[in-house]
Amino acid sequence: MHITDIILKKRSGEKLSKEEIEYFINGYVDGNIPDYQASALLMTIWFNGMDPQETTDLTLAMVASGDTVDLTGIKGIKVDKHSTGGVADTTTLVAAPLVAACGGRVAKMSGRGLGHTGGTLDKLESIPGLSIEQPMEVFQDLVNKIGLSVIGQTGNLVPADKKLYALRDVTVTVDNMSLIAGSIMSKKIASGADAIVLDVKTGSGAFMKTVEDSVGLARAMVDIGKLAGRATVALVTDMNQPLGNAVGNALEVQEAIEILRGGHPGDLKTAALALSSWMLRLSGLADSDEDAMLKLNSALESGAALNALRKMIEAQGGDPTVCDDVKKLPQAGRLIEVKAESGGWVSEMDNTEIGISAMLLGAGRQTKADVIDPAVGLWMKKRLGDKVAVGDVIAVFHVNDERNLEESISRFKAAIKIGGGRPEKLPLIYRVVE
Ligand code: URA
Ligand code: CA
Repeated sequence: MHITDIILKKRSGEKLSKEEIEYFINGYVDGNIPDYQASALLMTIWFNGMDPQETTDLTLAMVASGDTVDLTGIKGIKVDKHSTGGVADTTTLVAAPLVAACGGRVAKMSGRGLGHTGGTLDKLESIPGLSIEQPMEVFQDLVNKIGLSVIGQTGNLVPADKKLYALRDVTVTVDNMSLIAGSIMSKKIASGADAIVLDVKTGSGAFMKTVEDSVGLARAMVDIGKLAGRATVALVTDMNQPLGNAVGNALEVQEAIEILRGGHPGDLKTAALALSSWMLRLSGLADSDEDAMLKLNSALESGAALNALRKMIEAQGGDPTVCDDVKKLPQAGRLIEVKAESGGWVSEMDNTEIGISAMLLGAGRQTKADVIDPAVGLWMKKRLGDKVAVGDVIAVFHVNDERNLEESISRFKAAIKIGGGRPEKLPLIYRVVE
């Protein structure tokens, strides 16, 4: 087999066989296929696509490129959730404790943020003392005892994705349905969960900008999950504005804690409850949405969900009293109000740009080597469809390093469109793909 024949075949619009896909993945991971040929193949895949069989073959070849996690030490159905990446998307920190408090087993290996999207690991690390590096025995033990643990990837999980993702990032081939589906599902399958709830984002802050493309990605991932023997459901949810109000690591932890304490009704809470409901149903712990919601609301009201988070923080070395006093989280030195310069309805947000504004303050990384400041970010005060007057506060910026402050504020202002008619209210959940 030759990689040039494989590139030509895909370039001609033909379907690749399982053997050809395995040859590519193994050759690339081993270093026998160089970056330039892998780049050419990625770009032909970007243009010509892959069908469901090719996408599944790609995913399973990627899983086989490294180790898989054995979670058999955990009793019961292990459930995982995954978001395709968003802004102010803190659903994991709300849903995982909620599901654990209802008897679920949430063994989650999370990722870091890159670019305009946040990552659960960076958020958790803003909690003083907390470590996301835990040995597998401790991880499994925690899930058995308190129902949840969130850690970073351990071992040599899906090396093909690490290498390919970095190459896709610099060759502008990230936003392809089959490549995203393979990347995400290979990691989920290798991480050992029995049931997987996917949150596929759609809109201006997502990889997939249209509902149609997002439903396609959701369908592709659900199909792969089923073929790999994992109960999988995907929710297609809105990312045309920040999901919660907080964008930034400690700020997002604060918002999650406040939701678990019964506060902040809104889209973040609604989305987290919807995801939690599916996590309970796929775990066999609820037989309908109504049943799940009763259990989840009771775990919220009794404080059991907050307590599950508190126990996890403590067990992973963090300061659990942040759950009682969010001011114990890192605080920024300076707060700056960004105000409306014109009046009218908030009609549009460029959510990617809002994520970039927070990143420029130090809440995210432009490159893998950048260091995050856990305290900084921004807190949204307005949502799409709100009516504002000149001088109303749109967001409060939490700032330490002021080097990129001016650019951050000007990009933020340009990202928020005020004026025009009252916008149509967008759905929060567009579709459930089972
Ligand atoms: N998240 C991933 O893990 N992989 C992708 O390709 C896109 C988003
Ligand atoms: Ca993420």
